[in-house]
Amino acid sequence: MKKIGILTSGGDCSGMNAAIRSATRTALGHGVQVVGFRKGYAGLLKGDLLEMTTRDVAGILHRGGTFLQSARSEEFRTVLGREKAVRHLQDLGVEGLVVIGGDGSLNGALALHRMGVPVMGIPASIDNDIAYTDMALGVDTALNNIIYAVDCIKDTASSHDRAFVIEVMGRNSGYLASMSAIATGAEYAIIPEVECDIADLCNQLRMRYEEGRSNAIIILAEGAGRAQNIADNIKDAIGFETRVTVLGHYQRGGAPSVFDRLLGSRFGHAAVEHLLAGEKGKMVGLCCGEICLTSLETVVVSEKTQQDQLHDLSMILGI
Ligand code: F6P
Repeated sequence: MKKIGILTSGGDCSGMNAAIRSATRTALGHGVQVVGFRKGYAGLLKGDLLEMTTRDVAGILHRGGTFLQSARSEEFRTVLGREKAVRHLQDLGVEGLVVIGGDGSLNGALALHRMGVPVMGIPASIDNDIAYTDMALGVDTALNNIIYAVDCIKDTASSHDRAFVIEVMGRNSGYLASMSAIATGAEYAIIPEVECDIADLCNQLRMRYEEGRSNAIIILAEGAGRAQNIADNIKDAIGFETRVTVLGHYQRGGAPSVFDRLLGSRFGHAAVEHLLAGEKGKMVGLCCGEICLTSLETVVVSEKTQQDQLHDLSMILGI
C-alpha cells in the first residue's frame, strides 16, 4: 500500500487523537502516505481531507475529542452515498482505510469492506457496547469523568439529606452506569439490560432511611428510564427530598486518561500494521490485555454480555 486514509466517525471520545496519531506515525514509518478525512464519512463524501505529516499529529495526544472532527452522515447510509465514497477513495489513490468509531461507524466500515475497500476498524465509544473488545476507546476517561462528578454530588447529597438520581450516557448499554455505581459506592444502578422494580428500589431505600442513612445516589443509564419519574417515585414513596442531575456530554470530553492514551496508541499501531500486512474487514480489540483481531462481520452481529454480572456486583455492594 502507498496511501491509507483515517477517519473518526459517530460520537467523539477521548483517546481518538491518540489512535489517529499512532496510526499516522506507524504508516509514515513504513513510507506510506496518510490522508485524514474531516468529519468522518461526511468528509470522505465531500473530499474534505488533510494530507497528514508527523507534525500534523503532534500535540494532540493529550487532547479530548478528535482533531479530525466527527459526524454522523445520513448520505453515507445510502447505497449511492457508499458508492460515491468508494469512487473518491479510488480517485485519491487511497488503498486502505482506518475507521475509528462506534457500532454505526463499524457497520459503515463493513459496508465499504463488502464493496472491496480494505478497512480496519478501531472501537471507540464511551458506551462500551462493542463486542470483541474488553474496552473501547473513551470508556475509561468517561468513567473517570463520571466518578469525579458523582463524588462531588455525594458531598452535597450528604449535606442536605437528599437522594440524587444521576443520569449517565450509554445509549442502550448499562456499562457506564454499573461500573460507575461500583466505583462511587452508589446505592442503586438502573440499567436497560436488567428490569428495575421501582417498588423494590423504594423499599430498599426506605429501609436504609429508617436505619438513619439519609442520603442516596441512584445511577440511571440513559436507556433505562426517565430520571425525573424515578426521582418523583422515590419522593412519593419515602418523602426523601430528591434531585436529578443529567451528566450529558460532559462525560465524553476532557483529557484522555492514561489508559485511553495507551489503548489509542496500541489500537492505532496495530490497525495499520495489520492493514499493511494484508488483513482487511477486521476490527482491532483488547482481549485479556492483548490486541486481538476479529472480522467486522462477526463484531457487528454480536452483543456484549457482561452487564448482568456487573449490575449484580453494584447491587451487592450498594445496599
Ligand atoms: O454513543 C455515544 C453517545 O455519547 C451515547 O452515550 C449517547 O446516547 C449519544 O452518543 C449522544 O449522541 P449525540 O452526541 O449525537 O447527542
